Amino acid sequence: MSQEILAVYPGSFDPPTNGHLDIITRSTRLFCKIIVAVTDNCNKKHTFCLDERLQLLCESTKALKNVEILPFSGLLVNYLEQINSFVVIRGLRVLSDFEYEFQMALMNRKLNKKIETVFLIPDQSYTFLSSSMVKEIAMLGGDMSGLVPKCVAKELKNKYQKNEYTK
Ligand code: COA
Repeated sequence: MSQEILAVYPGSFDPPTNGHLDIITRSTRLFCKIIVAVTDNCNKKHTFCLDERLQLLCESTKALKNVEILPFSGLLVNYLEQINSFVVIRGLRVLSDFEYEFQMALMNRKLNKKIETVFLIPDQSYTFLSSSMVKEIAMLGGDMSGLVPKCVAKELKNKYQKNEYTK
């Protein structure tokens, strides 16, 4: 049954990390197709513009056949309805993620009772990762190996060498 389900993994991915990729890869084993839905309308000020985030995700997931990278704006529940999906994938790294994720899952269900949120736990080696942290490491010239895909590490270097830090 779940093999036929289209699932959506939403997020800002600013930039995508190996932790995000770990969740995407795990999702591809559970669902027939995964749409990685990249938001551009949340309150966050992005370091990478929407096109850059889409491009980096496409490059990082090119080996995965059942993954599509698409932008979305507005309410997530409306987007899900539009593409005929009712499953949201979210990663749970540490206990402190839980409260926010729980709230978001229940709010999405309140907005549309058909929506189910599936939580996946990333590999232990990624539980400490976040996009802000990798940006700080890049800005301060630290080693990004193992934290982000190669294309992301390259873009982070380009950005910070050109002093484009905006967040
Ligand atoms: N590995 C590494 N980092 C991870 C991760 C993982 N597996 N999972 C989450 N993160 C990090 C991200 O890097 C990010 O770090 P940062 O804060 O340093 O940038 C942080 O966790 C949260 O990012 P993300 O998972 O992308 O969530 P988000 O808060 O940016 O986005 C949306 C949440 C997009 C799903 C939510 O805001 C949304 O649905 N927006 C649409 C509007 C809407 O419907 N609102 C009502 C929702 S109830």
